[in-house]
Amino acid sequence: MLTGKEIVLGVTGSIAAYKAVELLRELIKREASVTVVMTEGARQFITPLTFATLSKRPVLTDLFTLDYHSRIAHLSTAEGADLLLVAPATANILGKFANGLADDLLTNLFLAAHVPIVIAPAMDLHMWQHPAVQENVRTLQARGIRFVGPEIGELASGLYGPGRLAEILEIIRAIEAILVSPQDLVGMVVLVTAGPTQEPLDPVRYVSNRSSGKMGYAIAEAALARGAKVILVSGPTSLKPPSSVETSFVQTAEEMREAVLKHLPEATIIIKAAAVADYRPVRVLPSKLKKTGEPLTLELIPTPDILEELGKKKEGRILVGFAAETENVIEHAREKLSKKNLDFVVANDVTKEGSGFASETNLVTILDREGHVEELPLLSKKEVAHRILDRVVALLQKRRGG
Ligand code: PMT
Repeated sequence: MLTGKEIVLGVTGSIAAYKAVELLRELIKREASVTVVMTEGARQFITPLTFATLSKRPVLTDLFTLDYHSRIAHLSTAEGADLLLVAPATANILGKFANGLADDLLTNLFLAAHVPIVIAPAMDLHMWQHPAVQENVRTLQARGIRFVGPEIGELASGLYGPGRLAEILEIIRAIEAILVSPQDLVGMVVLVTAGPTQEPLDPVRYVSNRSSGKMGYAIAEAALARGAKVILVSGPTSLKPPSSVETSFVQTAEEMREAVLKHLPEATIIIKAAAVADYRPVRVLPSKLKKTGEPLTLELIPTPDILEELGKKKEGRILVGFAAETENVIEHAREKLSKKNLDFVVANDVTKEGSGFASETNLVTILDREGHVEELPLLSKKEVAHRILDRVVALLQKRRGG
């Protein structure tokens, strides 16, 4: 719920402007108070009356007006708001925001706002992919502005690709996450790995494990909610990452290693929840292995230990590993903590009811380098994710403090 939250909804001149009506309805359903600001372009697509009727407030459109309320709108609206949401946002408005232009009410309000800002872009494929637009997005992201979407799909032009306004519920989730989660990871780049790896044996078979990716995806979502830029390296899963998370999809341990190392320079925090296969078949057969009826021995060789390699290249980063164990859980986790040079390790007894692979909940114990052992109760994977991030934030604060 967004009860009592003051949201300013900026609507700009995209064909997706009509979707802002549904967005407004969803916000109001969650008991938010919404003031709608429309650009000139937005008013070409939809009338202010629609938004005024639903929000039960006047819609703000003009910077230069004799009406007192509108005249000070860019100041008073910015001051009283909890969040500024711009949806849909055109390429034009992104350019203005990135360059500090202030030629209408929304751009003035953007500059005056000292609140979290969320932008949901919508435009044609080639416009979104244009280097100028991408540069503007990077500039705004570097200033702490959150982007949701765009989604990949069929566009108004008939082209297919990124450019569609993110799903309304995804935009709402992003807002709820900001307004109800602490914003203590702003400026951090969190690299998360999730899911299993699959090590092919032949064109139809592979060696893998039972990881669903739920734990890693929960960490990615929680870090995003707390204001971090999130990079997710995911093995094969059936989950859909949030569109504002930069995701690399991989299959094998070697591919996961390459993707992680590619993003390493950018990462400030790394959390390795993936269940990487420890072994792979020595060779991948070019055609399907035939059944002979005789016993078959598979020759396996170790995959690269990505976490161990990261431990050697750690520099100032925070490095968190998991340890999925079935016996001597704490002892084995402690070995991994020191061998892989981790800041802390999340020991996961995967034999316990409701814990480990594919479940909605998890039962973990966090062990750190100072010898502290924190046993958590059975929690949802989302809550476990936040507890892990609480520890990361505590470590960051400790480092900053001295
Ligand atoms: O995905 P879910 O269904 O939600 O399940 C969650 C989970 C059980 C997968 C998760 O909670 C978990 O425990 N992840 C770690 C699984 C694992 O591979 O543990 P491990 O003890 O084998 O590996 C230790 C650490 O080294 C892990 O951080 C792992 O990512 C990393 N590793 C392991 C092998 C390897 N070759 N490279 C690695 O980086």
